Amino acid sequence: MAETKSDIKLIPDMDIDEISSKGDAEDAIETLRKAIRYHDYRYYVEDDPVISDAEYDKLMDTLEKLEDEYPDLQTEDSPTRQVGGEPKEEFGLVDHPEQMLSLKSVNEEKDVKNFDETCRDELDIDAPKYVCEPKYDGLAVELIYEKGILKQASTRGDGQNGEDITDNVRTINEVPLKLLDEADCDLPETLVVRGEAYIPKEKFSEMNRRRAEENEKTFANPRNAAAGSLRQLDPKVTANRPLHIYIYQMASAEEHGFESHWEVLQTLPKWGLRVNKDLSVQCKDIDEVIEQYQHSKEVREDLDYEIDGMVCKVDDLKSRKKLGNRSNSPRWAIAWKFPSKRERTVIRDIKVQVGRTGKLTPVAHLKPVDIGGVEVTRASLHNQNEIEEKDIRIGDTVIVERAGDVIPQVIKLISDERDGSEEKFTMPDECPVCGGEVVMSEDKKQTQCPNIDCEAQKRERIQHFVAKEAMDIEGLGKKRIVKLMNNGLIEDAPDLYDLTKEELMGLERFGEKSAQNLIDEIEESKEQTLDRFLYALGIPHVGSHMARLLAENFDTLGDLKKADEPALTDINEIGPEVARAVSVFFNEERNLEIIDKLMDAGFKLKNPHAKSGDQPLGGLKFVFTGQLEKWSRDEVKELVERLGGRATSSVSQETDYVVKGAGSGSKVDDARENDIPILDEDEFKELLEGKKNRV
Ligand code: IVH
Repeated sequence: MAETKSDIKLIPDMDIDEISSKGDAEDAIETLRKAIRYHDYRYYVEDDPVISDAEYDKLMDTLEKLEDEYPDLQTEDSPTRQVGGEPKEEFGLVDHPEQMLSLKSVNEEKDVKNFDETCRDELDIDAPKYVCEPKYDGLAVELIYEKGILKQASTRGDGQNGEDITDNVRTINEVPLKLLDEADCDLPETLVVRGEAYIPKEKFSEMNRRRAEENEKTFANPRNAAAGSLRQLDPKVTANRPLHIYIYQMASAEEHGFESHWEVLQTLPKWGLRVNKDLSVQCKDIDEVIEQYQHSKEVREDLDYEIDGMVCKVDDLKSRKKLGNRSNSPRWAIAWKFPSKRERTVIRDIKVQVGRTGKLTPVAHLKPVDIGGVEVTRASLHNQNEIEEKDIRIGDTVIVERAGDVIPQVIKLISDERDGSEEKFTMPDECPVCGGEVVMSEDKKQTQCPNIDCEAQKRERIQHFVAKEAMDIEGLGKKRIVKLMNNGLIEDAPDLYDLTKEELMGLERFGEKSAQNLIDEIEESKEQTLDRFLYALGIPHVGSHMARLLAENFDTLGDLKKADEPALTDINEIGPEVARAVSVFFNEERNLEIIDKLMDAGFKLKNPHAKSGDQPLGGLKFVFTGQLEKWSRDEVKELVERLGGRATSSVSQETDYVVKGAGSGSKVDDARENDIPILDEDEFKELLEGKKNRV
């Protein structure tokens, strides 16, 4: 399919209020359809969109409005009637037993209230119940089970026909190949369920880091990574990707004897299908729906998977039937999107920043753009290699994404927008701050100013030391640090502890009160936890998480100082690179001097995370089998390790406990044979909480 780029405008300029004749409307509709078809192709077939989701939604919205206004211009093949993109032939096509619909999306509370009003009117009910769920930003998948056995898995495709990805989906651990029969009701002869396959955020970053190291193309976001991983002709590739799944729908649920979607969600896990229990909630009215939206928006950043909104669904299945469907979306559900995190903008300039370790980073200065309610003016371009790979130039139009707490990233170039005036950029040969010669690695991924006395590095080190995750000295922002440095009052972090109120009062814009507040804050920071202190030191590769890990494994700073590389790599999660960095750091005279000065200033470090403290599972080996309800496999593994134990995959003489979930099989038999205690999930929980005695 796909119109070629030359006949379409990516984002047609269009003011709907200026369209007053049918002729104009016809032209506008045609232009919009062409553009949308092209974007569908880029998104669904190529996994490589060139406009932001918000821009796409706007185009679709305009088209829908025009088609509503001019009904005779509606056609069967309009994108408003279609779902998704064309399936790729190479996969083999499958028919969906029931059309896989899309969801109508809205952005505003008033649109959701309208949705509720329509439901109330049409159903003639005061307050229909709703179920709210996250709107996952992954890839929709349909699973068909015959007599409990997974027979087919497919993508949504165009809604009628999808791509056959059965062999790929079989590699996802969370998709049972055989269903359990633990529910009160019988398993239907044929069960069709739908859900979303996704790659957790952290796994996505890890995967991208590895791909970058191996010079493979990185994925723009977890959605693309999930789609690219499942739409693979070789299932072995899929098997190596960290895919997960949440099931959110059962086709023909009423025919299977269910009365509500909520009942469906309670039953699916009993058959072994993974449902999101935390964020699927039943709401008694629209006010609760609105509350749930606020809640999901708040927890969004803390989830380990991407969501881009909340789906609100009428719960009662008979009511759903009454409400019916539009051509491509049900009238009983609505997707309430979060503010978009990806937008297009222009790179006005590229400037170079010098970090705390002397690393030079190219930063794109952008034409200001609102991304999800925050004005973004800068985005990281990482390094010279990345700029060349993405072929980014000054003047380019790009897509910028703001995800989590990370600084905005330039995701990709929109090369169609080039007019030839764009300028190439190369990293400078000299440090823009101290003027010293810089060194670039051969792969062009690192450019370093080796001068540790470079003013930029000094300032960044102090800024890092006082940051929120470190000493948390709120009164010391970048401007004040620069002022203190320029006045010769500080050079490094220990100097902060020699500052006096009088010295501060001698500076412009410091009154007695603000000077005293800052001195108090600095003083208070001396009562500190070991992990924050380690983070504050700015050891390369030691972020908050790593600092915490070190604090868990070494009771005191002294113990850590003494640790050699093998002792460090013995810790799960610490690889050779980090071990080396830590060891080198504590062997450098300059760093030891800084630490001594801080200690002399009166630092008192306590370590609430020390492992020797709270280790209810210390030394125990566990084997988990069957489907657990409270944790995913990864979660429970992490938990056990955090509490001092180990999780292994097969039962042996060394196994201390086997923990069984629903549908566990031969491992439980192995445990019995070997006299190994078998716990259910509740008993395991008691053990963690120290309520149950260890064997
Ligand atoms: S229900 C007819 N529930 O959104 C109902 N869909 O635009 C449609 N999606 O292709 C399915 N999270 O990939 C449903 N909790 C959720 C969802 C969800 C994400 C996706 C799904 C679908 C698209 C529809």
